[in-house]
Amino acid sequence: MYQLLSFLLFVLAFLVREVDPSSQECSKVNVNNCNDCITSGAFCTWCKALNFTKPGEPGSARCDTKAKLEERGCKTSDIINPQGYDAAEKNVPLQGGSSPVQLKPQAVRLELRPNQPHTFPLTFKRAEGYPVDLYYLMDLSYSMKDDLNNVKTLGKQILLALKKITSNARIGFGSFVDKTVLPYTNTNPEKLQKPCPVEETQCQAAFGFKHVLSLTNNENMFNTEVSKQYISGNLDPPEGGLDAIMQAAVCEREIGWGNNTRLLVYTTDDGFHMAGDGKLGAILKPNDGECHLIGNQYSKSNELDYPSVGQLAQTLSEKNIQPIFAVTENTKQVYEDLTKMIPKSAVGVLSSDSSNVVTLIQHAYDSLSSTVIVGHNQLPEGVTVTYTSICGDERPTTGSQGRCSNVKINQEITFNVTVTAGNCMGEQSFEIRPLGFTETMVVKISTRCQCECDENPDSHKDYCTNAGNVMCGICSCNAGYVGQKCECKVGQKTERDLTLACRKDNGTICSGLGDCVCGICSCHASEDGRKIYGKYCECDDMNCELNRGKVCGGNGKCDCGKCICNEGFQGSACQCSVSTEGCRNSRGAVCSGRGNCECNVCQCQSGYQLPFCEECPACLSPCPTYAHCIECLGFGTGPFEKNCSDSCKNINHTIKDDLGSAKVCKEKDKDNCWMIFRMTELDGQQQYAAEIRKERECPEPPSIAAIVGGTVAGVALIGFVLLLIWKLITSLKDLKEFRKFEKEKQKSKWSNADNPLFKGATTTVMNPNFSGE
Ligand SMILES: *[C@@H]1O[C@H](CO)[C@@H](O)[C@H](O)[C@H]1NC(C)=O
Ligand SMILES: *[C@@H]1O[C@H](CO)[C@@H](O)[C@H](O)[C@H]1NC(C)=O
Ligand SMILES: *[C@@H]1O[C@H](CO)[C@@H](O)[C@H](O)[C@H]1NC(C)=O
Repeated sequence: MYQLLSFLLFVLAFLVREVDPSSQECSKVNVNNCNDCITSGAFCTWCKALNFTKPGEPGSARCDTKAKLEERGCKTSDIINPQGYDAAEKNVPLQGGSSPVQLKPQAVRLELRPNQPHTFPLTFKRAEGYPVDLYYLMDLSYSMKDDLNNVKTLGKQILLALKKITSNARIGFGSFVDKTVLPYTNTNPEKLQKPCPVEETQCQAAFGFKHVLSLTNNENMFNTEVSKQYISGNLDPPEGGLDAIMQAAVCEREIGWGNNTRLLVYTTDDGFHMAGDGKLGAILKPNDGECHLIGNQYSKSNELDYPSVGQLAQTLSEKNIQPIFAVTENTKQVYEDLTKMIPKSAVGVLSSDSSNVVTLIQHAYDSLSSTVIVGHNQLPEGVTVTYTSICGDERPTTGSQGRCSNVKINQEITFNVTVTAGNCMGEQSFEIRPLGFTETMVVKISTRCQCECDENPDSHKDYCTNAGNVMCGICSCNAGYVGQKCECKVGQKTERDLTLACRKDNGTICSGLGDCVCGICSCHASEDGRKIYGKYCECDDMNCELNRGKVCGGNGKCDCGKCICNEGFQGSACQCSVSTEGCRNSRGAVCSGRGNCECNVCQCQSGYQLPFCEECPACLSPCPTYAHCIECLGFGTGPFEKNCSDSCKNINHTIKDDLGSAKVCKEKDKDNCWMIFRMTELDGQQQYAAEIRKERECPEPPSIAAIVGGTVAGVALIGFVLLLIWKLITSLKDLKEFRKFEKEKQKSKWSNADNPLFKGATTTVMNPNFSGE
């Protein structure tokens, strides 16, 4: 539904676009010549006038909608805009009679512009007395017993009724029950022979589909053959009718179908099995849609599954067969649903004994043949077809099929067939056919993807600098030459190489502001008078940094994106004056020699602080670093003794009696004395002023008396300590011995064995009479 809707919208959009040429569009993609142009869009046209393009302008500028090209001054006669056209190749006039022609034209040749819909008319006139083939396909399951008896006598009536419609009518007969395997049919061998549920003298062996009588116009033959038929039987209610319809449709030769209106009357009182039901009987192979009649019986009934409804619908429409489902009231709904899926089919309600079948067929035939549906078979790739049905007084309708109902005999109806080819292609063909009729229209389709510019190859040789030929207004250059007029001699290079040379970083050619002429950009003047220049036309004098709303702050000139500042100014937008007033410290040094002055503000080296880069709280103290210098400068000693003035050039020193206590450094010299000094950083790199205190702080020299006294006292002390230790050790040893003695003394005290005073608490009395044995 959604697809249909969007399709209608699309068609509508097309109609609207055709009405209003100003909304037509040509989006030219990769257009280099006229052929590219006309194939890139349905509304693209090409101007072949010489000198239509400006120097350096690419060929694609000649490609646009007709309206735009005319607006740009291309004469209509110079516009190449091939249109699709149709030509009838076979156009026999419509006629009735014995060999009627109902469809016109019978063959059409189309040459189409890709994506440009082309419409041509197809006329249909319903002829009287169109020959009819009718195949009567009957369900012979047991419940149809009384119907069979009726049909045996009906043949003549049916044929007579048909002959009222046409002088050329034929009738055939076939019958079906179901596959002869379980669960459809009882497979007991006896039951297979006589499947009827009640004892019946004339019961036909179980079968799937049997073709009885090929189409004939001999009603007696129908009567004879059909009267030989007996009822048969099966188990389950749905029958194998779809198998039978499929075989009746595809076995064209055996049935004898002619180039006539083909009707297939299907009579039954039950539903039908369809694809998938075969599984119940372990039949898994899908139906192959081929004829498998051997000796008039469907031979693969038990090997192939039932066909699907879709498969059947397609086969019926391919074979032009219109089924008429003559079914009993109880199954009417099922078959009505089925006809919705099978185009050109009808349902009629059969009386319980089929006595009304003749009128049923007449009605169904009328309704079928008064409905004309036109459609096509497989379309070539990229081709789409729609039909506008113009059926008498009704409002025309558009769709993927043409359809008119209630078409009366001799009424002429028209279908506007709109064909669109989506792309260029060689000649292909397809067929358009009214369903249920054998007449077809063959549509041969090819595309117009070549411009025909009628150029005499030698007529404008000088236009192409004698190095090429004019083709549809543009030069087709000889090898080694490129350019709009083949004016560039390039040797091995190609036009592509030249264009590449005009593109900065693969951007647009000459930044979109110039033409690439032989690999060199020729820049345009811009509309507002700016000058555009540069190798890729990438420069102009406006696109520089702004400051206070002015290009380069009004203090300089813009040159290809960069400001060139007037004297006294600097900065990317000339926003700064060159003055360094704000950068000078109290001594007048710019940033104390440790930074640059930019825009009158110091940019200090790392660690130094604004405003003048004087202080550096985070820097290492210079005192340890320059200790050797202080030593040689202040006291003439140390490692730099020999070359002091060379090694310590950056230090400007003074010797002082006293330094006070603020920020003084203390470092040891080689004599282990403390040097007291103060370092102050001067302007510039690593320049210091050092104030050194005249006096160092040296350690006191050692005194002899103290050393001797100390030594004697020390010896005495050691002796005393040794004595003490000896005393301690002996005392501890004594203590240990004493403890041991005490312990042993206690042990001996409680040992009863040794105590002569100890007497036991018990007395042992010996019984002299007790011998102990
Ligand atoms: C059918 O096509 C013809 C031209 O082929 C056109 O004049 C006519 O308007 C079309 N009719 C409809 C309903 O589109
Ligand atoms: C039906 O018509 C087609 C082409 O018109 C022809 O090839 C074919 O032989 C015809 N068939 C019969 C049975 O007349
Ligand atoms: C000064 O002399 C010392 C030791 O003699 C030496 O290590 C140092 O490199 C010398 N310095 C210069 C600047 O010559």
